[in-house]
Amino acid sequence: MQNHKGQRKKISIIGAGNVGASAALWIASKGLGDVVLVDIVEGLPQGKALDLGQALPVLGQNDSVTGSNRYDETKDSDVVVITAGKIRTADMTREDLYNDNAKILTNVLAQVCKASPNSILIIVTNPLDVMVHLALQQTGFPRQRVMGMAGCLDSTRLRYFIAQELCVSPTDVHAIVIGSHNEDMVPVISSATVNGKPVEKLLSKEKIVKAVEATRHAGKAFLPLMKTTAYVAPGIAIAEMVEAIVSDKQSILPVSTFLDGEYGQRGVVIGVPCVLGKKGIDRVVELPLTKEERAQFEKCCEDVKSLIKQYEGNK
Ligand code: LAC
Repeated sequence: MQNHKGQRKKISIIGAGNVGASAALWIASKGLGDVVLVDIVEGLPQGKALDLGQALPVLGQNDSVTGSNRYDETKDSDVVVITAGKIRTADMTREDLYNDNAKILTNVLAQVCKASPNSILIIVTNPLDVMVHLALQQTGFPRQRVMGMAGCLDSTRLRYFIAQELCVSPTDVHAIVIGSHNEDMVPVISSATVNGKPVEKLLSKEKIVKAVEATRHAGKAFLPLMKTTAYVAPGIAIAEMVEAIVSDKQSILPVSTFLDGEYGQRGVVIGVPCVLGKKGIDRVVELPLTKEERAQFEKCCEDVKSLIKQYEGNK
């Protein structure tokens, strides 16, 4: 993938843990651009980059993969993905991570802004919507260039769970999740379809509830199983967003963004479908929602607003 100077695109990933490394793998396998992995742990990003680099001949890709503990190598990135941050344990919610992760993100953003002032930022650190709000405030970047990854992950999970209930291919299921990246998220069942057929006509209410509940609790389900959070699906969800941006695909993807009147909301960061292309967020897409979906969505907005108030009051 080339940038406007005819050079390859540069995609930096801050945080070389499971999610960062998985994103790097998917991005490299799609040949989206040169990848720079950064982490504070010495040797970790270098090792992960070396491992991924050695897979490139078989992947059939020739973009470079670099690992570093410094931000110099990320200079003039087109896209910066920030996964740095603590992950929760089984007894924690994503919101419990705020204090630790706000400090980490603040530090990372200062360095990202210096190295890549024109980059498009994809925030992955939890609690997601609040972290995107913080990133917008701290960087002063326009809303087009700061977004959060959660909706793409929650939506692929919903599609998977609906497909399981129907015993059909997950690729035939189209469904989107909006709202906040927590258990109050809003799976928009009213517009979910299987090859054009409404899911509500194909599945019983009980089975829809089962798929919805599995989606809402998907993030937490990994903790007792593998003592850490998911990373394969989060990694490919990040790559889906990066691809839409660097390939200027104008894809409609659900991302966490600052609403400025859309959906009747102003001044709140929340997940909604957006058109993604080379400038980042081109525009917000307004989905028709049922009364119940709208009420759930409004509750998510109110919750994010009050969380931000609470955190800012504690400073
Ligand atoms: C999850 C984490 C990444 O939902 O928030 O798996």
